[in-house]
Amino acid sequence: MPGRIITVYAAKGGCGKTTVATNLAVTLCARGTRRVCLVDLDLQFGDVACVLGLRTDRSLCDAVPWADSLTVENVAVLMTPFRPGLDCLLAPTGPGEASLITNELIDELLYVLRLIYDYVVVDTPAQFNTTVLSALDAADHQVLVATPERPSLKNLRMTLDVLDLLYGANTRSVVVNRSDTHAGLTNADVDQLVRSPVTVQLPNWTDVPASINRGEPLTAGCPDHPVSQAVRRLADLLAASDGRCSRDPPSV
Ligand SMILES: Nc1ncnc2c1ncn2[C@@H]1O[C@H](COP(=O)(O)OP(=O)(O)OP(=O)(O)O)[C@@H](O)[C@H]1O
Ligand SMILES: [Mg+2]
Repeated sequence: MPGRIITVYAAKGGCGKTTVATNLAVTLCARGTRRVCLVDLDLQFGDVACVLGLRTDRSLCDAVPWADSLTVENVAVLMTPFRPGLDCLLAPTGPGEASLITNELIDELLYVLRLIYDYVVVDTPAQFNTTVLSALDAADHQVLVATPERPSLKNLRMTLDVLDLLYGANTRSVVVNRSDTHAGLTNADVDQLVRSPVTVQLPNWTDVPASINRGEPLTAGCPDHPVSQAVRRLADLLAASDGRCSRDPPSV
């Protein structure tokens, strides 16, 4: 059975896309019992290698010579392993390399990756460009991230308006990251601004930037941490459902 593509997106920078994508990928690989590929489609400023403490010896750019003829075998050569069950397809790092990666190549890559992996988790930049559209189009499930601040929630709502026109509403989850830093907004304010069920709330912890600086996602080093538990709820929903989203139980 082909694997499922999960695209993580936010229309506001710094919301936690990479944090969610990396931790979700670690959780979905379930200690190596599932095969997961994490793809860094933030082609210009991808952070996945940095966040996971990986060296970019190979990147998406190495797929360019194989455009139109990608095979399972040559895609395997592009991978940077992070841990058993989790491989990464890293963003390029050289000047101008991002511009060599066409949307057709991204479509082809995602098609082949689905044949190899149980889950393909795609991290994206905070732009609504054609690269992001390719990843959203290919996705079996879209994970949309926002923080509880008006501009971020407004951009989330605007994104949902576009996605409502293009895709079914039951193929997405909404993640409110740093959810306990309400900064004057109540849960009701958040609901009113988003006008869509919040699937999971991720709490704010300085352990998150600390884990990034260590190069080890929190879900890998501290699986019982409240942030890891929240990511696990999201992963469980994704694994259990056929793409339908549901609401996180209210926090006590
Ligand atoms: N739940 C959290 N608690 C505390 N800090 C967090 C949390 N989630 C993310 N952060 C911090 O917020 C910053 C931005 O996170 P991240 O890089 O995941 O966002 P992003 O949406 O990928 O950003 P960009 O748009 O630049 O790609 C990081 O410094 C990270 O450590
Ligand atoms: Mg990022």
